[in-house]
Amino acid sequence: MTTALITGGTAGLGAEFARQLAARGDDLVLVARDAARLQERADDLAQRYRVHVEVLPADLSDRAQLAVVEERLRDLGRPVDLLVNNAGFGTNQLFLDGDLDEEQRQLDVLVTAVLRLTHAALPGMVRRGTGGVINVSSVAGFIAGGTYSAAKSWVTVFSEAVDRQVQGTGVHVTALCPGFTHTEFHERAGMDVDHLPDWMWLDAPDVVAAALADFRRGKPVSVPGAQYKVLSTVARYAPRPLIRRASGVRGPDRKG
Ligand SMILES: NC(=O)c1ccc[n+]([C@@H]2O[C@H](COP(=O)([O-])OP(=O)(O)OC[C@H]3O[C@@H](n4cnc5c(N)ncnc54)[C@H](OP(=O)(O)O)[C@@H]3O)[C@@H](O)[C@H]2O)c1
Repeated sequence: MTTALITGGTAGLGAEFARQLAARGDDLVLVARDAARLQERADDLAQRYRVHVEVLPADLSDRAQLAVVEERLRDLGRPVDLLVNNAGFGTNQLFLDGDLDEEQRQLDVLVTAVLRLTHAALPGMVRRGTGGVINVSSVAGFIAGGTYSAAKSWVTVFSEAVDRQVQGTGVHVTALCPGFTHTEFHERAGMDVDHLPDWMWLDAPDVVAAALADFRRGKPVSVPGAQYKVLSTVARYAPRPLIRRASGVRGPDRKG
């Protein structure tokens, strides 16, 4: 019997991880802020796939609430075999003009929560010699697109580094780096994405299936979709000044 804990398990990629993992028979622990929506998803999955689904409402930007999720992961009596650090959002603002508290919340959810939850989950997995962590990063981490990019860059490098540290234990850590995927993400961030061409869009079921397959193969970095495999290779090997120019939103010229 396998148990997976998924943060942001109510919408988008997290909801799809929950669906595909329940469909293969995993028990689930779902984490998100909206308690009613969590319970609704849990009831639906439990009924459809006959698995046990636990809900853990928590705002991962709040240290006390994050600690409750850490405790759940450290509970050796109820082992979690797969941790999916998926919850996230984008601030969609220029750094100097933006709300600093919102930046801090973004860093707390995208980076601090990933750091602390991975630290809570791995020791038990290593002791059992099985399991692992999928950290949902982004192809944005390969470019210089603002604080969101910077946070996702951290998630990818962190995952690669920790994966090396657990090598040979039977445990794997994979950074999932999707490109634009149809979820609630862009609407929540107030991003205008209508102008993007069709070829740039991925669907959550394909992204999650690719991530689970790459995790099974022990790949440290998973980039779903042929178009993003090409683009991320270009972003990684092209001269950095070119990448900076292509990816950075330039703010207004500041004088004085
Ligand atoms: N969609 C894309 O194009 C794309 C591309 C690359 C990477 N990603 C990454 O994929 C991950 C999932 O995003 P998505 O596209 O699936 O977005 P989504 O559809 O907006 O879902 C976000 C999920 O995260 C939860 N969440 C947000 N803030 C939270 C907080 N403070 N504490 C706990 N849970 C929180 C939300 O539930 P509540 O609101 O109830 O808390 C929801 O379940 C993110 O890490 C994102 O950065 C997305």
